[in-house]
Amino acid sequence: MCGIVGYSGPQSAVTPLIEGLRHLEYRGYDSAGIALATPSKLFIEKRAGKLINLELALGNSAPIAHSGIGHTRWATHGGPTDRNAHPHVDNEGKLAVIHNGIIENYTQLREELESRGHIFESETDTESVSHLLSDLRKAHGGDLAAAMREAVKSLRGSFTLLAIHADAPEVIVGVRRNSPLVVGLGNGENFLASDVAAFIDYTKRAVELGQDQVVTITPEGISITDLDGNAVTPREYEITWDSSAAQKGGFKHFMLKEIFEQPKAVADTLLGRLSAENKIQMDELNLTTEDIRAIKKIVVLACGTAFHAGMIAKYAIEKWAGIDVEVELASEFRYRDPLVDRNTLVIAISQSGETMDTLMALRHAKSSGARILAICNTNSSTIPRESDAVLYTHAGPEIAVASTKAFLTQIIAVYLIGLHLAQTVGRLTGEEVRELFYEMTELPAKIEQILETVEPLRELTRGFAQSTSVLFLGRHVGFPVALEGALKLKELAYMHAEGFAGGELKHGPIALIENGTPVIAILPFGHEHGLDEKMLSNIQEVKARGARVIVIAQEGANVVGAEHVIRIPSAPALFQPILATVPLQVFAYEMAVTRGNDVDQPRNLAKSVTVE
Ligand code: AGP
Repeated sequence: MCGIVGYSGPQSAVTPLIEGLRHLEYRGYDSAGIALATPSKLFIEKRAGKLINLELALGNSAPIAHSGIGHTRWATHGGPTDRNAHPHVDNEGKLAVIHNGIIENYTQLREELESRGHIFESETDTESVSHLLSDLRKAHGGDLAAAMREAVKSLRGSFTLLAIHADAPEVIVGVRRNSPLVVGLGNGENFLASDVAAFIDYTKRAVELGQDQVVTITPEGISITDLDGNAVTPREYEITWDSSAAQKGGFKHFMLKEIFEQPKAVADTLLGRLSAENKIQMDELNLTTEDIRAIKKIVVLACGTAFHAGMIAKYAIEKWAGIDVEVELASEFRYRDPLVDRNTLVIAISQSGETMDTLMALRHAKSSGARILAICNTNSSTIPRESDAVLYTHAGPEIAVASTKAFLTQIIAVYLIGLHLAQTVGRLTGEEVRELFYEMTELPAKIEQILETVEPLRELTRGFAQSTSVLFLGRHVGFPVALEGALKLKELAYMHAEGFAGGELKHGPIALIENGTPVIAILPFGHEHGLDEKMLSNIQEVKARGARVIVIAQEGANVVGAEHVIRIPSAPALFQPILATVPLQVFAYEMAVTRGNDVDQPRNLAKSVTVE
């Protein structure tokens, strides 16, 4: 997945393009490049590595041009080199293309184009589109949009493409299939981008492009058609957040800022959800009482951190609503024969709303008749658009690659759904719902309390920076928290980390414990099954084998055998993940900083994974 931006207007295009790329760098940072359309030729500069390399290469050398396209890359086909960086040009050097996604039939296209005399410079799938468009544009008498419409008909895969030609420098043409593209409507200038963050400093008016639609922008206006050239009326909307939400606001890293934004994100996601009659307000679910009573099974589909939120959904929904919940990695779902039908409610969880694995799984479930409900943090992204209903989380833009505030709000969203279903099927009374909701409204202040006292934890973390492996133990809802703690540490600190269910320890993982191995145990609380005692036994077991044990425990809990205890406020058992996750995020953050890693842009990763 990559970041794409296009500009056409009166400004010197290099400025909005570079600023746009800065806001999109979270989408990929293997290389960056721009094409500027000067009246007779294209100026291209591209560099492997982060955006700063492109900026250094540009210095003051960029010519004045009033339109151009820019790209930041997460490498798929072809390594992260200057040559494979986008834009890719045709053999005349007059047509440039940038691309997010994968052209699945590029090998065949390349062979055909090479047989017609085209010479390729890179190993990318994208370059085949530059050559193809070049031929088609000539065939269409210089009409780039017509060429794009025809080109797309012969492409397979998922993609957003932008193209520009030196002979019509003001015109930028874009298209999208299974990959995002938004149009920014300015005053005498227009923008194209993968995400509104790229142009929010210039305009808050946007148009979302539909599947297989082709858009043309010039300074004067935009036009949209389907692939047959039929005009499409743009649906304009107003971007509701401010550009300051996508800036660090005095924090050293976006991740740290986002960790500290969690109390507000949780509070915002809860806002207005309980009616005066003690009913969870969920009108956007579009489910009647009959629909809910007809649900036989819920299947949660998600990836990575969102999958961990899905695991928590199982505990909450089964407990409160008594409906069977399966949680499945979206990337695996459609490769077996999943049993879903019209009585299945599928919940697709995704911060970005663009994760290809989740999207494909959702489509598969939909084709089997299931009703799809998305939990998403990004307005009008593809997953909500393709779902029957959407529950938006209100975390605000999450820029750091490592998900933090989105995770907590996803968990809140599944709690709300669980309570709503439970109330509708008559398993919880209004009074019980009100009490649980009240407990949830206490969570932001409790997160705040944890964040006010993280300094000793940060110091403690630094003492473990030389460790090669960290294990996380949890039970019940603490198990997904352990998995999340391990995922955060892997992606940020590049350390071996694994999360285990405490009870599984003796079935194999305990062999990993060596003298000095750090083990972080989340002590369950508020359970009727005495799970805390079982975890305390697990702690003794690892300690006896030389582990250094850090325990996350609620205030007042009796902890034996720990080298360090991190105290968190108490809450009902099911709400524990909202609190217990926070110290683990801080642990991973501090470890990454101590080890000198790039916190917001960890190696090999990108924020939203728009390829399968
Ligand atoms: C977590 O820190 C990750 N960066 C990653 O696991 C992420 O949660 C996953 O790729 C799913 O993304 P989504 O929520 O945007 O679908």
